[in-house]
Parts: sequence; C-alpha cells; structure tokens
Amino acid sequence: MCGIIGYVGSRKVYPVLMKGLYRLEYRGYDSAGLALINDDLQLYKTHGKVSDLENRLRGKALEGTVGIAHTRWATHGEPNDINAHPHFSPSKKLAIIHNGIIENYNTLKEELINRGYTFQSDTDTEVLIHLIEDIQLNENTDIFEAVRIALNHIYGAYAIVVISQDYPDTLIAAKKGSPLVIGLGEDEFFIASDASPIVEYTKNVVYLDDEEVATVNRQGELKIKTTRNQEKTPYIQKLELQLSAIEKSGFPHFMLKEIYEQPRSINDSMRGRLNVSKGIVSLGGIIDYEQKFINARRIIIVGCGTSWHAGMVGEYLFEDLTRIPVKVEYASEFRYRNPVIYEDDIVVAISQSGETADTLAAVELAKSKGATIIGICNVVGSSIARATHAGSYTHAGPEIGVASTKAFTAQVTLLTLMALSIADNKGTLSKSRFYQLINEMETIPAKVEKTLELNGNIKELAKIFHKCRNFLYLGRGYNFPLALEGALKLKEISYIHAEGYPAAEMKHGPIALIDEEMPVVVIATKKGAYDKVLSNIQEVKARKGTIIALVTEGDQTVKKLADHVIELPETDEIFVPIIASIPLQLLSYHIAVLRGCNVDQPRNLAKSVTVE
Ligand code: G6P
Repeated sequence: MCGIIGYVGSRKVYPVLMKGLYRLEYRGYDSAGLALINDDLQLYKTHGKVSDLENRLRGKALEGTVGIAHTRWATHGEPNDINAHPHFSPSKKLAIIHNGIIENYNTLKEELINRGYTFQSDTDTEVLIHLIEDIQLNENTDIFEAVRIALNHIYGAYAIVVISQDYPDTLIAAKKGSPLVIGLGEDEFFIASDASPIVEYTKNVVYLDDEEVATVNRQGELKIKTTRNQEKTPYIQKLELQLSAIEKSGFPHFMLKEIYEQPRSINDSMRGRLNVSKGIVSLGGIIDYEQKFINARRIIIVGCGTSWHAGMVGEYLFEDLTRIPVKVEYASEFRYRNPVIYEDDIVVAISQSGETADTLAAVELAKSKGATIIGICNVVGSSIARATHAGSYTHAGPEIGVASTKAFTAQVTLLTLMALSIADNKGTLSKSRFYQLINEMETIPAKVEKTLELNGNIKELAKIFHKCRNFLYLGRGYNFPLALEGALKLKEISYIHAEGYPAAEMKHGPIALIDEEMPVVVIATKKGAYDKVLSNIQEVKARKGTIIALVTEGDQTVKKLADHVIELPETDEIFVPIIASIPLQLLSYHIAVLRGCNVDQPRNLAKSVTVE
C-alpha cells in the first residue's frame, strides 16, 4: 500500500526515483508521481502505472539531485491524476508525499478554507501540506519547525517526506504508524517506505520511530527530533536484504518464483530451531516465554488475510498438541469489539509485513490489557515485530507478489514448531509421537520440492478450468483453513469468485450452487476426516459437480470418484496444510496467467495494508 522514495545527494535524482517506484510497485497502487528540484520545484503525476508516468516524462529534461516520489493506493478521493501524490503547497514551493490517513483532515480543511485556502484534490495529504505552509508563514518559522508543529495538530497515521524549493539541499521525513526507513550513503540519503528501493545503494539504514521527524541533507547530516522537540540519536542498523531476493531471477512472475522458493523458505524457517538428532524443538525468540505459554489461560491468534488463515491452522495445531484453548480473530474485528482479554492470555500476532494497521492496533489493545504478545512476522524490525513482547521471524525472505505464498507456509511452519515445543515442555504429547512428528517435519522441504513437480499437470488443469466463473473449495480439520486459503488465492489474482467451506457445512447452503458448471476442489488426503470427506465428494458428484481432488499418493478410492486428482506425498495430517498449499497456489497462478491477469499486482489489492 502506498510507496515512498526520496533522495538527496550528488546522483541524478530522476533515475533513482524511477527505479525506486518500480521496486515499490509490489506494494499495490493505482497512481504514481514525483517532484524534484530543477531550479524550481517541478511536480509530475498520473493515474495508472509507474510505466505510464515514465512514458509521460519521456523527453523532458529532468535534472536535479533532490526529489521525492510516490505510488498511491487511494483512500481519500478516487484514483485520478489530481489525487495522486506529490501534492503542492499553495505557493508551490513545498511538496509532500504521504502514506497513511489523517483522521481529522476534514476539520483542518474547513479551518483552512475559512481562512481563504483552496484545494485541488480530495486528499487528506493536501490538507497537511497547506497546514505546514500556513504554519511556516504565520509563525515565521523554518520548514523543519513548521513540519514538526503541523504534526502536533493531526490525528491518524502518516509517513511523509517534504521537499522545499527554498531548502534544495534537504528533505524532511516523519512517521507515525506507517513505516519509514532512511538509507545512509556517502553524503547522500534515501528515504523509503521499505528497504527495497534502498538496498542496491546502501546497507546502512535508520528506521524512524513513531512521532520522529528527520532532516537529511547533502552535507551528510541526519538529525532526528521527536514531534515534541526532543533530540534523538539515530541508531544505524545493517540491512540483511540481498538485491537478488527482490528480483525475479528468470521467473515470469514474483509469485511463481516465491512458490518455487518454498523448499528453502520452509527450511530457513526451521533452521536452528528443529534439531532432530538431539530431539529438540527450540525457538530462541520465545524461549523465555515458554512457561507463560504452559500456564496460559488461552491463546488468541490475530491476523488478516492469509495470515489469518495461517492462524486458523495454528488453532488446530495448538489445541491438538498443547491442549491450550485457542481463539482466532480477525484483527480488524478484535480491535473494535471490546474483547475479553485476561492477563494470562497469550496473543499471537501473525503478519508477513509486520505493518498491517489492524493487526498492529490489535496488538496494542491486547498489550494495554496486560496480555503477553508474541509476534510471528516476516519483515525484520517491522512495527508489529517491535510492538510485541517477544516473537520469532519466519525467515521466508522478501515476499513481493501481493498474493502471499511462501509467507503462509513459513507461518504455518513456525506455528507448528511453536506448538511442538510447547507441547513437549508441557507434556501434552507422548515422546514417541513428538519424535515421530519432528522426524516427519524434517522431510517436509523435500516433500514440498517433490510437490512442485506437479506444476505441469496443474497447468493442464488450469487450461480446463480457467474460464469458470465460480469455484468451491472444501476441506475438513487441518484442511479446512486450507480450503479458505485456496479460495482466497484464486479470488485475489484471477478475479474468479471462489468460496472455501468446511466440507460438511456444504450441505447447509453451498450445495445449492453445485451443477455441471461448478468445479469443486476438495482436499481429501488420508487420515483426519478422510471417510467423511469421501461422503462429501459423493454428495457433489450426485449433483453433477466436477471434483478436483487433492489426495495422498496412491489413493485409489477418491480416484474412482473424482474427475481430476492431484497426488501429494504422504505425510502426517498436521503437515498437509504445508504440502497441499503448493498445488492450490499453482492452480490459482496458472488460471490467473491464462486469464491475462496481473498476477503480482492484482487490481485494488495492496501487499501491506497500512490503513484500517
Ligand atoms: C493484504 C495482502 C495479503 C495478506 C494480508 C495480511 O491483504 O494482500 O496477502 O495476507 O494483507 O498482511 P500481513 O502482512 O499482515 O500478513
């Protein structure tokens, strides 16, 4: 969601901004723009893609060494040229880019209108830059002070960068609620909403904290103050991100690359945590909290989207293995419904980006009620990771495709490790079952590798089904959350309507939809509720539905009933959600490609949802 890149230094700024915008595309956006100082402050923006902006700017003399650029995902005001960022101040001497939402923008706007200001756009952002200039003029202060004072008047979330024609050597940045990172080069600075546009230039970064305002200049100075005017010392960190991790490496899409990365990302998530020869599962990040888990009254898992689905798998895992009662909550509902939270509850927040606004708010709420908060995040140093008491990173590597794939399997991997470790310490799992499970877990990356060999078959299936208008996904037990995730993946990237259902619930509604036109994907692996799922398949067949079944290798029973089968390597039922994710991801991917959809950047979706 909305991307920011700013630069000041001795390089030509235009190529830095343009490359940065392309790197930020994965976050999801609907318009793009930039402003740079080339004698005066120049501003260009358009609705559409970064390539549209680039085409529009072809042939223009875009000199200058300081500038800001933005990809916008509309919140206030429709996606059009005028609402795109940057936004000018009334004098056109200042421009701003902004991620987040200014909640009191209407009141501020009315005040400014009463004082004679006019606005071009419908955005909250334009209100802020007007306010900054108003303060600068009326309080006769410099731009840095004006930004700081203005931020004390606004409510909501923001990451902003301001550029001023009168201060052509400087950029000003600030954040609250939305992330902002500053890259430090040799007498040059990069400011961005995440490290992806920075990593090819420098590995030295400073993550701004909430309510901090930074100024950077081409003399190599970085100064940070809080919005309450306290000086802060910048804490420089080393980026571990590699450039190759954010490039496609020969794959046609990031999504396919990330699907194929799963044997490694699952392995990386287990490395140093699963030690089969010693018979130990140990998560360093939560080791001091094991006793809290053992004594926990409940585990409440919060997340959004795919992370919420991982949380649902977590519910089955924790209850099954640790016997601790679990609730899984949409973070967006949890935060607003006055939930009952006890001090001996453990809240597990799951988030790939670590920036999802609702999940972050749910964490803050649970923390304020005294619960212990454990994070499962992928992005190191992200807001949720920092807001939790403890946690473990998934080590999936950067996920660029908007539809989550490797992050999901890494989240499930971590939840499995967590549940195993707590169950072992709590004594709710016999030693023999524990050893059986950890031995099996070690084989999962190889089984995922083997499952990826199904890609060709699944592509053929996609050719048969890519024109369908509806899909149903069914599963039971551990495979129910997977049915939800399979349906979500298809919806997100192919725009086909799909529903996930617990197989037995089909009889209470969805069965009415079944006819020859309706493909039904059933996860029908051995063990668990296999026999029951067989009956559900019969029910679909009796109504002429088409069955695509995910079965355990060698299964003959379902083969006789289903129209198409995808055979998966045999594993324990607790690991099926990881293995069976692969064909579901590949099916959605190939269907979306055949339908000509923008797989990595589906319409209207954002990778990191930093507004509620
Ligand atoms: C967006 C993304 C999803 C993701 C969800 C939660 O909707 O498109 O892929 O699952 O946000 O994101 P998080 O970063 O918190 O896991």
